[in-house]
Amino acid sequence: MNRLKEIQLKLKFFWGSLFYFKYTPHALLYSRLRDNIERKFFKYSTEKGFNKPGKLTHTELTEKGANFYFELAELQISFLTEELIRVDWKPGIPPIPYGIARKDWQDVKTHVEEIENGVSISSAKLKVIVKEDGSLKFCDSSGQILREEFAPSCKNEGWLHQAQLRQEEQIYGLGERFSSLNLRAAKDEKQQPKTYRMWNYDAAGMYGPGSDPMYLCIPVYLSLHSSGSYLIFYENSFDAYFTFGETAVANFEGGSLRYYFTYGTPAQLLERYTELTGRAALPPLWALGYHQSKWGYRTEEKIREEARAFQERNLPLSAIHLDIDCQVGNRAFTIDPDRFPKLGSFTQELKELGVQFIAILNPGIKYSRHSNLFLEGQILDGFCKLPNGKLVVAPVWPGWCVFPDFTNPKVRAWWSRQYQYLLDVGVAGFWHDMNEPAAFIAWGDRSLPKVTQHYMEGRGGDHREAHNVYGLLQAKAAYESLCQYHPQQRPFIVSRAGWAGLQRYAWTWTGDVECTWIALRTTIATVVGLGLSGIPYSGPDIGGFQGNPSAELYLRWFQMATFFTFYRTHSSNNVEHRTPWTYGEPYLSIIRQYLELRYRLLPYFYTLSWEATQKGYPPVRPLFWSATDEPELWSVEDAFLLGEALLVCPIVQEGARSRQVILPKGFWYNFWDDTALEGSQQITIEAPLEQIPLFVLAGSILPMEEKKQLILHIYPPVEEDSRETVLYTDAGDGYGESRVDKFGMTRSENGLEITWTEEGKYPFPYKSMSLHVHGIKLQQVWVDGEEVTCTGQILEFPNLEGGDVSDRFHQVRIQG
Ligand code: GLC
Repeated sequence: MNRLKEIQLKLKFFWGSLFYFKYTPHALLYSRLRDNIERKFFKYSTEKGFNKPGKLTHTELTEKGANFYFELAELQISFLTEELIRVDWKPGIPPIPYGIARKDWQDVKTHVEEIENGVSISSAKLKVIVKEDGSLKFCDSSGQILREEFAPSCKNEGWLHQAQLRQEEQIYGLGERFSSLNLRAAKDEKQQPKTYRMWNYDAAGMYGPGSDPMYLCIPVYLSLHSSGSYLIFYENSFDAYFTFGETAVANFEGGSLRYYFTYGTPAQLLERYTELTGRAALPPLWALGYHQSKWGYRTEEKIREEARAFQERNLPLSAIHLDIDCQVGNRAFTIDPDRFPKLGSFTQELKELGVQFIAILNPGIKYSRHSNLFLEGQILDGFCKLPNGKLVVAPVWPGWCVFPDFTNPKVRAWWSRQYQYLLDVGVAGFWHDMNEPAAFIAWGDRSLPKVTQHYMEGRGGDHREAHNVYGLLQAKAAYESLCQYHPQQRPFIVSRAGWAGLQRYAWTWTGDVECTWIALRTTIATVVGLGLSGIPYSGPDIGGFQGNPSAELYLRWFQMATFFTFYRTHSSNNVEHRTPWTYGEPYLSIIRQYLELRYRLLPYFYTLSWEATQKGYPPVRPLFWSATDEPELWSVEDAFLLGEALLVCPIVQEGARSRQVILPKGFWYNFWDDTALEGSQQITIEAPLEQIPLFVLAGSILPMEEKKQLILHIYPPVEEDSRETVLYTDAGDGYGESRVDKFGMTRSENGLEITWTEEGKYPFPYKSMSLHVHGIKLQQVWVDGEEVTCTGQILEFPNLEGGDVSDRFHQVRIQG
C-alpha cells in the first residue's frame, strides 16, 4: 500500500470512528441508569426449588403419552410423532409458543410398562425410560441408548439440566456461534470447555475469535456419536448458559423446562425440527443473486453510480442495501427526501437495471415529540416500560430511543403498517438491524434492563424472557406486512437477531465480523451451525465488516461466499469503499468469474431453496450430512457441502496455493478439470488464486443456466449406480404455477442412461437445453431409441421454448 493510500485510510477510520464517539455520553449515562434500574426493581425469587425432583410416586396415562408425578415435580412426556417427543418438567410458566409452527399432531400409539426402578414409555420407534429418581434414557427401537439425562434441578425460578456425553460425542448448533463447528471442542482461557450463552448480543462494531454470545442464539443442538445422532430443542427463551464437557449442561435463568427430543440422520433431524418450528418460504429468485452494500451510500446519485459501475464492468448485481445514512437522523422508516428526492422513480430505475432496493430498519424509535412514530406508539401504549410504568429509554443510532413491545399483537400490527408506504415506492426488502435489541453502553449488558416489562400476549413477563424473541417477533410483523401489502411478491427480510423459528420470516447475516483470515475460516462453522439450527439463509459481510481486507483476503472470502445462500459485500463507514473492483486486476476478473458462476448456478440454488421449503434442509451443510458413519468428517470445519452435489473447500490461509481436503465417501469429480477421485481419503489439491477446490459428487446432475439455456452437467456414477436429480422452476417470484423436472441417471454395464420426467403446470422456461457429459467420453448416443450424432461431450436440444416439447427427450442412452 502506498503512503498516500495509508493516510487516506487512516483519515477515513478517524472520521468514521468519530461517529461512534458522539454516543459516548449517552452510553455512560445509560449504563449508570440501567444499573440503578436493575438494583431498584430486580427482585430475587423466593421460590425454593429443589435439587432433585424426589421419588416417582405414580404415573398417569394421557392422550399423547404419560404424566409422571414425583414428590417435588411433575414430568409430562408427549409423543408428537413416533420419533419426536416433548418433555415438560413442572413447575414453571409454560412458554408462549413463538418458536413453534405446528400445533396439531396426530395421536401416537404408545405403550407404558413398569420396569425395574422405573417406567418405560415407547412408540414403535422411540423409547423413554423414566427412572424413579427422575433421570431419563432415550433409546431407539432396537433399545440402543442415545441419550442419558440426569434428573433436573430447579433453583430461583431457573432450571439446571444435564445429560451424559460420550467420549466421542460432538455437538453442533445453538444458532449463531463464532466457535469451532463441534461446539464441544472449544475451550475457554482456562482450557475448560467453553460456555455458550443464550442472549442475543450486539458485537458493537467488531467481533473476532472468542466472541460469545452473538446476535442470534437458539437453544437447539444436534449431537453425533457412534450410536447415532439426535437433536434437542429447549423451548425456553430465557437467558441461559450451555456447556459441553463430560456432560451437556443447560442452565436457564427462568421459565419451565420444556424440550423436544428426536433422533435420526441429520437430514431427518432437520426435517422434524423444522416441522416443529417452521420452514423458510421460497425467496424471490433475485435474492439468491449478489447484493452490494456499504455503510456510506448517502445519496441517490451515489447508488446510481454504484449500480452503473457494476453494469459497466459486466458484473451481475441483484440488490443494493441502504444503511442508516440514507435515513433522516438514523430513524426507522425514513429515507431522506433531500438526498432521495424521487424515491419511487429511483427504485423503478434500479429495477430496470435488475437491481432491487433494500432499506435498513432499526427497532429503536427516537424518543421525541417530533417523531410521529413515537407519538403513534404512545397512543397505543406500545413501548416497553419499567415496573413503575415509565418508558424504557436507551441510546441507539437515532439518539435516545424507546422500544416497541413486539410481544403485543397490537404493536406488531401497528409496526406492520409502517412498511406499506416504502413498499409502495418500490422498496423490495428490509434489513432489520440492532434488534437484539441493542443499546449503546459503556459497561454491562448491551440491551434493555432485564426488569423491562413485556406484554407477552397478555400474560405479562419481563425482558429476561422477551429479549431473545424480540428480533423474531419484529421479523414476524414485517413478514406479515409484506405478505399483506404486496401479496404478489415474496417477502425478503434480513434480520440480525432472532430465535427458533426465525427461518419462517427472515434471512440473517453474521454481523460485524473482523477482517481477518481466522474470521473467514470461522465463518464457515457459523454458517453451517446456523443451518443445523434451522436457519437456511445466512452469509457474512464479504471481506469482513470492520477493517480493510487485503486483496487476497477479499478474493478468497468472495470465492467462499459464492457458495453461501446470502451473498453480500458490506463494510463499515470507517473503511475503504469495498466493491468487486476495489483491488483492480487480476482480482476483478477472478471475482467476475465467481459472480458469473453463482448466476449460472442459480437453478441449483433455487432448487435447494425449494427443497428447504419441503424438508427444512439447509443448502449449506457439514461434510458428515450424509456420512455420519465417517468420524473423520465430524469436525471438518474448513469445508462444506452445498446441497448433495457440491463440496466446497475455501482457502482459509494467507498465501496458500494448495490445501488438504477430506473427501466423504463415494466418488468425486474435480469441478475444474473433471478428474475423478475416490472418496474416504485425504488429498492435497492445488488452489491457485483463481480457484478454490470444488468437487462434484459422482452421480449428480448440476443444473446451470446460461443465456436462457439450461445446461445439465452430467457427472456419471463411477460404478453401477442409479440416482435422481430434481430441478425446481417457477416464475421466480409470486405464488403461481411451478414445475419439477426429474432427471434419472443410471450407470450399468450397458453405459449411461438419463431419463426425464416432469410434474407441474409451469411451462418449461428455457429456450434450449444441452447435456454436458463429464468423466466419460461420448462414443454413441441414442435419444428415445434413435441414434444421434454429437460433437465432443455436448448433446444439444435446441428447440424447447415456451412449452414446445418437440425436442424434449424421455430417455438418452450413452455408450462411453
Ligand atoms: C451495525 C450493523 C452493520 C451496520 C451498522 C450501521 O453495526 O451490524 O451492518 O452497517 O450497524 O447501521
